Amino acid sequence: MGNPQTIWYNKEKDLIETVDQRYLPFQNLIVEISTLDEARFAITDMIVRGAPLIGVTAAYGMYLAALNFSGIDFNQEMHRAADWLKSSRPTAVNLAFAVDEALAVISGQKTVSENTQMLFDYAENLKQREIGFSKNIGLNGLELIKTISDKKNGEPVQILTHCNAGRLACIELGTATAPIYLAYEAGIPIHVWVDETRPRNQGARLTAWELGEAGIPHTVIPDNAGGHLMQHQMVDMVIVGSDRTTLNGDVANKIGTYLKALAAADNEVPFYAALPSTTIDWRLNDGVAEIPIEQRDGREVSMMEGVLNNEVHEFRIILEGSPVANYGFDVTPARLVTGLITERGVCKATREGILELFPEKR
Ligand code: MRU
Repeated sequence: MGNPQTIWYNKEKDLIETVDQRYLPFQNLIVEISTLDEARFAITDMIVRGAPLIGVTAAYGMYLAALNFSGIDFNQEMHRAADWLKSSRPTAVNLAFAVDEALAVISGQKTVSENTQMLFDYAENLKQREIGFSKNIGLNGLELIKTISDKKNGEPVQILTHCNAGRLACIELGTATAPIYLAYEAGIPIHVWVDETRPRNQGARLTAWELGEAGIPHTVIPDNAGGHLMQHQMVDMVIVGSDRTTLNGDVANKIGTYLKALAAADNEVPFYAALPSTTIDWRLNDGVAEIPIEQRDGREVSMMEGVLNNEVHEFRIILEGSPVANYGFDVTPARLVTGLITERGVCKATREGILELFPEKR
């Protein structure tokens, strides 16, 4: 991919840099983020996206708010920054989690410059934590892929994924893709069905690009193809990411995930969600009722970007004036989830299963 990570601190310039995911795979650009507002814009405009990366960007946003502070009441200003960041995207809980943890490191006993340093350290630590979580999710998910591979006599394990829960959505490796990367590295034959993931096409544009860069065999399919493939035994397992998982195991993820889970259940295909504990909302017990679902600009539905004669163009694909709706996420009820692949292991998508891995949350 050129850049080993999706987001990093540029020490010389004292600012944050990230890959601009709006233009991939047609252009690979780097964006500088040097203020709170730029951090928030990066999140809302989806320069950065994916639950773990949004969380880390928000943590850096808190650092930048402190770095640029020139007012009177530091504490009040940081709470304002926190609310401003939290209002950027509602569904991925990693964002609110990171902002709240950042607020908690600020101390009234310390100077602004000491607090700024602590916020920087927090953002860097969160980033390192997410890297470690992805690695462990990969190792835990790898065992599931190995088990399936052992029964396939050298035939590739067929994995279907939705959206991009890859290294672009995290810092390194990804969540849903982490076991895939490790399986590929281990020489296990695999092939990935990549849902295009309308309307933003994170699968077609980002996951396919990522897997291509890594040399992992994959095929992009329209979002509606998965059920057909499952009916014809062409999918061995589904692995998706998550933007927010409730304590009872309901999984919010990119719109369309629920339909994949329904098809998987009907065809007895195991359906896994891979997620770090930073994506678990420990307060919630009913995903459909309680998880806020982002609604985005209708232009994402009515317009589509593509390449024509080597130039990137935006096209309108429906009649002007046709009403559109753009729900960003849906919730897959726990009963449809075979298991959760976390950094601590694989568990049932139940309160008991989750708390067994995370007993300190009891
Ligand atoms: O709208 P996006 O692109 O931020 O949505 C991302 C997803 O739905 C991912 O699957 C999810 O955040 C998991 S990322 C590891």
